[in-house]
Formats: sequence, C-alpha cells, structure tokens
Amino acid sequence: MKGLVFTEFLELVEERFGVEVADQIITTSRLPNDGAYTAIGTYDHGELVRLVLALSRASGTDVPTLVATFGEHLFERLIASHPALMEEVRDAFSLFERLHGVIHAEVLKLYPAAELPEFECTRLTDDRLVLEYHSPRGFADLAEGLIRGCAAHFGEPIAVEREDLSDGRGTNVRFAIRRAAA
Ligand code: HEM
Repeated sequence: MKGLVFTEFLELVEERFGVEVADQIITTSRLPNDGAYTAIGTYDHGELVRLVLALSRASGTDVPTLVATFGEHLFERLIASHPALMEEVRDAFSLFERLHGVIHAEVLKLYPAAELPEFECTRLTDDRLVLEYHSPRGFADLAEGLIRGCAAHFGEPIAVEREDLSDGRGTNVRFAIRRAAA
C-alpha cells in the first residue's frame, strides 16, 4: 500500500486524537519501521490494519467507523494531490463511472507498485448506479468512506446501500448508490 495512505492516516490520527495516541498506536502495532512512512514508499497493507485495530482499542471507536471517517478525509487529500485526474470530473456519478477505467488506471501508471481494487460500475438510471468492489485486501469500509467523501466533496446528498457478497469479509461488496433529488 502506498505510503501516502499511511502518512494521511497518521496525520488524521494526530489531528483528531492527539500526538500521544498516534505514538501509542505506532508502538503497540510493533511496526517494522517504527511508523516512519514516506508518501512515495510502499508498505504492507497489513500494517494499516494493525494501526486501525490499535486505534480502535485506544479510542473505543469501532473499526468500520474509523475507516469510513478516514476514507472521507483521504478522498480530499487524494484529489488535492492529483488535480490532473479530476479535470473532466464534474460530479460524483461521473467520478464513480471513471474510477476504474480512468482514475485508478492513471494511478497505476503513476505508481506501478500500487495495489488497487477492481470496480465495476453499472449505471441504472440518471440517479442510480451500482459500484461493485473487489479486492483481496478487504477494504470495503475504506471504499464506502471514499464514496461518501466524494459525494460530500461535490455537495451531492447520496444514499448508499451496501451488500457484502463475500460472507462479511469485505473483499467483494456491492454499493447501490442513489442520488437524492437536488
Ligand atoms: C469514490 C472514489 C474512490 C474509491 C471508492 C476508491 C477506492 C479505493 C480503495 C478501497 C483503495 C484501497 C485498496 C484496496 O481496497 O485494494 C484505494 C486505493 C487507492 N486509491 Fe482509490 N478510490 C477512489 C478515488 C480515488 C482517487 C480520486 C484517487 C486519486 C486521484 C485514488 C487513488 C488511490 C491510491 C493512490 C490508492 C493507494 C494504492 C496503494 O496503496 O497501493 N482513488 N482506492
């Protein structure tokens, strides 16, 4: 997993829970690099899972809530650092439709070591689409946070219905997204 995901996560932890909690979760997670991540490096995604579990224990907040909140924050950071990828994106639905074939495809060109999920997007009507997530890493909570972060970014209220097609493992999840009338 790209280092920028780790640096953004630890920055958000410091901001919301304080530097002491950030240091504490780095220590209890027994990370190989003692939490010294660089944005351009690549690290084992399992380290992020350990950090999130440690934060959940330290803060008493459940993991899905923590990861979803992080996803919303991460969306803003990703688009701020990759403005060229957003040039033709005018609303949340157009981003969802371009996510797999254009956005993540470009991300892979920029960072050949990136480990990206697969998404299938099916547009049902003007206001409804289905985004199906596949990834061995099982970061469906993160995907939902990014989806919500995207809608919040464009100021578009959405309703998301989530169905886990992988027996609760979060590796194959269908998100049915409905855009509320403006
Ligand atoms: C609704 C919008 C998006 C969703 C749902 C989404 C979903 C995800 C998820 C779930 C991951 C974690 C990896 C995995 O699950 O296997 C991921 C990784 C990533 N995404 Fe996206 N993404 C979105 C938008 C974007 C945008 C706009 C950018 C860049 C401009 C971006 C760049 C990345 C990068 C750099 C990674 C890290 C890859 C790695 O760690 O190796 N994503 N994305």
